[in-house]
Amino acid sequence: MNNSGPSPNDFLEVAVEAARKGGAIIAEAMDLPKNVAYKTEVDLVTETDKKSEAAIVECLRKYFPQHAIVAEEGGISGPDSAAKYKWYVDPLDGTTNFAHGYPVFAVSIGLFENGQPLVAAICNPVTRDTFTATRGGGAYRNEKQIHVSKVEKLAKSLVATGFPTHKRVQNPNIHYYWEFTLRSHGVRRAGAAALDLCSVACGHFEGFWEFGLKPWDTAAGMLLVQEAGGVVSDFAGRPYTPGGPQILASNGLVHEEMRELVSEIATMKPDAATFVPG
Ligand code: IPD
Ligand code: CA
Ligand code: CA
Repeated sequence: MNNSGPSPNDFLEVAVEAARKGGAIIAEAMDLPKNVAYKTEVDLVTETDKKSEAAIVECLRKYFPQHAIVAEEGGISGPDSAAKYKWYVDPLDGTTNFAHGYPVFAVSIGLFENGQPLVAAICNPVTRDTFTATRGGGAYRNEKQIHVSKVEKLAKSLVATGFPTHKRVQNPNIHYYWEFTLRSHGVRRAGAAALDLCSVACGHFEGFWEFGLKPWDTAAGMLLVQEAGGVVSDFAGRPYTPGGPQILASNGLVHEEMRELVSEIATMKPDAATFVPG
């Protein structure tokens, strides 16, 4: 740190340290029996979500006691929502996968400065990949720069989506899933939004959309996509805000085509268009 205070790289160092601490806790627990509790009928939480979060929050607090932290299992702590620096922490993104032993889950940590993404760290404890980004500084996987794909047509794209765990009935995304499946190389639904966004940033997926994601699901991944050269918006093409009702992330080249398709689906299925995620 220099005399003028921490730089984005100082913040990133701490974000990576915290994400790896959470990742180590998950890695240790992933082959052991899981202690699963239910937030709602289908929304799971395990002891590992809580242990990972405690380690991450302790690490962030140690370096930046004056920052606000919004963490999935603990809510808001530290200064109020007007704080200049706010950390969004998903201590285990993909809990349902983790609980079933399906090896697709991650830790996701994003730092916002005055409401804008500044730093991102996502740690995949299974592959041991660490994805990082700083605003204006590019996006990286294990310190090697990553870029979105150069595919220009949806018909030649592989895309991804997710379904909120807590919404069993009345989920309009099935209409979107159906139409995108018919018009692309396919739709993947792996169950960890942070990793879906990493896959857009790496160029494995051309696009990703979902309804009702929480700020901790997307705060880090959105910056990774942007810094890898992609675009993140809502379905109307307006700038995406974490916690907004829908996210559309892409390599930029297929963005308009995806946006046109979501608006076409909304016209065909008016119930889907007026859906408000819970
Ligand atoms: C979930 C995952 C999933 C997405 C859900 C999220 P969690 O997060 O990101 O891919 O479809 O909407 O809630 O609950 O496993 O942290
Ligand atoms: Ca999540
Ligand atoms: Ca989670």
